[in-house]
Order: sequence, then structure tokens, then C-alpha cells
Amino acid sequence: MKLGPFKKIVILTGAGISAESGINTFRDSNGLWEQHRMEDVATPEAFKRDPQLVWRFYSMRRIQAAQAHPNRAHEALVKFAKTPGQEIHLITQNVDDLHHRADPTDHLPPLCMHGSLNQSRCMNCGTIYFDDHAYFDLKGDYAPQGTILCSSSQKASVDYLHHYKLDYRDFLPLSPCCKAAIRPHIVWFGEIPFHMTKINNLLTDADLFVSIGTSGQVYPAAGFLQIAKMSGATTVCINKEEIPQSQWIDHFIQGHASVEVPKFFESLT
Ligand code: OAD
Repeated sequence: MKLGPFKKIVILTGAGISAESGINTFRDSNGLWEQHRMEDVATPEAFKRDPQLVWRFYSMRRIQAAQAHPNRAHEALVKFAKTPGQEIHLITQNVDDLHHRADPTDHLPPLCMHGSLNQSRCMNCGTIYFDDHAYFDLKGDYAPQGTILCSSSQKASVDYLHHYKLDYRDFLPLSPCCKAAIRPHIVWFGEIPFHMTKINNLLTDADLFVSIGTSGQVYPAAGFLQIAKMSGATTVCINKEEIPQSQWIDHFIQGHASVEVPKFFESLT
């Protein structure tokens, strides 16, 4: 298939792009939502009810993401972004940091519409911190390990965490700014994704829109193919299985992201 050339290219990624790096998707068999009820771990109500359970879940995901590495699909997007003469934007629903790690020189900074696994947020003032702590180990025991970076960029050690430990139901550190509880900087069900104004502008302006490794089950991202198509873009979907938005897809490429993503973007150059 030879398409293009395109001037403005917008790419959306979902959990399928990180699957071959060893990170669980949500809805495939053995996916996260088969192992956990999303109502128990990914809603504001769940955090209020049982913050410890929620932090156990996100600690497990932080450990899993830290052990993973970007794969050929993440790398192919960065390589493509270095091609001169086009404007490329990346939107991701993923909260792992594999796009960042594939791109140390920041050629293709992703808009992380569902937040980031390695950030926490003060529940009082909203300050966002770098935080890659796994507060619980894989057995579920409280065992804080990692780094929290305060707004002043000073590193907080585990001593800091122990010093300020608690009082949020006896296991969570308090934020450096307000000494209030912190939560994962993740968009939970019922919350509004980040960067939506910018994303809508990108979609309506795109010449080519490529959706990679997402099941098309969760809005607003599930509506992006339609918005881009109705705004005049050529639309491409690369996924292991068909998704419900077939009427808005010009070219469907079925297969594994690590194989099909490099092949497709090489065909554009
Ligand atoms: P899903 O788990 O819903 O879908 C992953 C898609 O990737 C499926 O359609 C798979 O067939 C496909 N897939 C799996 N392995 C693949 C591979 N190696 N190559 C290509 N495709 C592959 O994940 P998302 O669509 O990203 O939100 O889920 C969207 C949102 O739902 C997530 O961001 C998360 C979740 O609930 C929040 O937590 C807010």
C-alpha cells in the first residue's frame, strides 16, 4: 500500500502497542479488566472507598511498566517523526512511559490523555509530581521503593516518605506541598481526559489519522476515527482484531503492532 504524502499526521495509540513489551492490555484475554473489576480500582469512588486497594493496583502496574522496554512499534514512530517535511502528533491512551523511553530526545512528545503512571497528584491543590514509587510489592505488602520528585525538583527519599508517612489510612505519603493525600495522576472512569481541546483541534486539522492497538471501546478516544474522517483525513487502523468503527476506517491493517507499524510508516517515507 502506498499512501500520501501527508503534511499533518495524527497518531493515536492504545494498550495494543505496548502488548509485545509485556504490558497487559485491558480487554484481551487475561487483560487487566479480566483480573480486576474496574469499579474497584479505576474510579474516584473506589479511591475514596479503599485507597489501599487502588494503590496496590497502580503499584503492580508501575512495577510491570518499569520492567518493560519499548518495542519496534514505539521505535518506528520516533524514527518516522524524524522525517523532515511533515508535522506529526502523537496522542496516547497509555499511561506507561514507553513512548517517552523510546524517544529520549523528545522528537515526538505524546499527549497522555489518560495521564501517566509515573505521576501522582496532590488531592488538595492539584500539584503533579513525578512519582515512580511502587508503594506495595507484588505480594501486596507495603514496601515503598522508588523516587518522588517534588515541585522544587528535589528528590524525596524513602526517608522522606517515612517521615511524612501517613495518616492517610496508614500507608500513603502526604504531598510535599500541602501534606495532603496523593493519588495516581490517571484519568479514572467518570473523569474527563486531559488535553481534549488541543486533541480536537489536531483531529479536525489532520490529513492522515492512524489508530494503533486500541479496541475502540472507550470514549472519547473511540470517537477520534469518526472526527478525523468527517474532517477530511485519510484514516488507517492497525490492530490485531477488527474494531467497531469500521465505517470510519479507510485502510485496516490487521496484525501485530511490532511488525505492522514499522512496515506502514516505512511505506510513507
Ligand atoms: P484494550 O485492551 O481495550 O484494547 C487493546 C487492543 O489492542 C485490542 O483491540 C487488541 O486486539 C489489540 N492488540 C493487542 N495486542 C496487540 C498487538 N500486539 N498489536 C496490535 N494490536 C494489539 O486497550 P485500549 O483500547 O487502549 O483507560 O483501552 C482504552 C482504555 O480503556 C485504556 O486507556 C484504559 C482502559 O480502561 C483507563 O484506564 C481510563
